[in-house]
This record gives sequence, C-alpha cells and structure tokens, in this order.
Amino acid sequence: MILPMYIFGQSVLRKHAEDIPADYPELKTLLDNMFETLRNAEGVGLAAPQVGLPIRVVVIDLDCISEDQPEFKGYLRAFINGHIIETSDDLVPYEEGCLSIPGLHETVKRPSRVRIQWVDENFEPHDEWFDGFEARVIQHEFDHLEGKMFVDYLSPLRKQLVKKKLVGMTKGQFSCTYKAKPNR
Ligand code: NI
Repeated sequence: MILPMYIFGQSVLRKHAEDIPADYPELKTLLDNMFETLRNAEGVGLAAPQVGLPIRVVVIDLDCISEDQPEFKGYLRAFINGHIIETSDDLVPYEEGCLSIPGLHETVKRPSRVRIQWVDENFEPHDEWFDGFEARVIQHEFDHLEGKMFVDYLSPLRKQLVKKKLVGMTKGQFSCTYKAKPNR
C-alpha cells in the first residue's frame, strides 16, 4: 500500500523519533508499505516520520540507481532503531532533495563516512561504517529521525532564497507525482 507523504510543515517531521520494541505490531507490513511508497515516489530513502510515524524506521532502495551503479543491484535495506555513533571529520558537498520537500534541491555538506548501529527486520543488531552514496543517504534519512531536514544546513543567504518556497509548501503550494498529505 502506498502511504501519503508528509510534506514540510507537518509537525511529525520535526519530532524526535523513538526506538520501537521487537513486538511492534505489523512491522513487516509497515516495511513493505514504506518500500512501495519509496519506489512509487522514485526516491532512494524514506524515514517513518515522512509517512507520519515518529519511530526509528528507515528504508533505503539503491536498486533504482543500479543501472548507473551496478554495485547497488538488489540493494533494499531496512534500518530499525538506528543511531549515528560517529562520523569522519571531513565535509563533502552533494546536491540533495527530499520527498517531503518536493521541488527543492540544494547542496549540503556532510561527513563522507558514518558509523551507525541499528537492528534489521529480525532485530539482529549491527554496527558498521558506511561511505560514499550510502553514507550520504543514511545521514539524510537518520536526520529525519531527529526532526532535522536538509534545508536546516543551508547558509543564511540560501535559507532566505528558499524561504518563500518553504512557506508556500506549509500552505499546500507544491506539486509532486506521488500522494501527499496536505498540511491543512
Ligand atoms: Ni528526506
């Protein structure tokens, strides 16, 4: 089932998301729905707050870019109860977008490497470093779990330039190809 996307301005996107217990009801269904919603919106990552749930669940689908980057063939991963443990000291620029901020793309600097701890679908614990595009997507999605969005990183000047667009978005002025949850 495709879930409606919560758009910039929805308060759930600014909440700190909580860990879930191993007996969280219908987790498998939620993960299936999140993967389907992500694929339908042609995105690479989706965090539960983006579908209205303040819980630490993230799905990442890099299979959709595997034509250009064959190493990501079949890459569909769920990160549950994920937390960033440490990052590298460098900062690299990359243009980001977000399914909750349709139509806006801005360059964001982030560390090139990130170490995270999480549990998988079977609640098996993991602790790993990621780099490259994976590290980028993970950091963007894990920010959603802290109520942070990529526009928070923009310079005061860039923030000023996109302000009108963001304010419009909170009033329902945006267009996207996927089902979105209106703010009002
Ligand atoms: Ni996002």
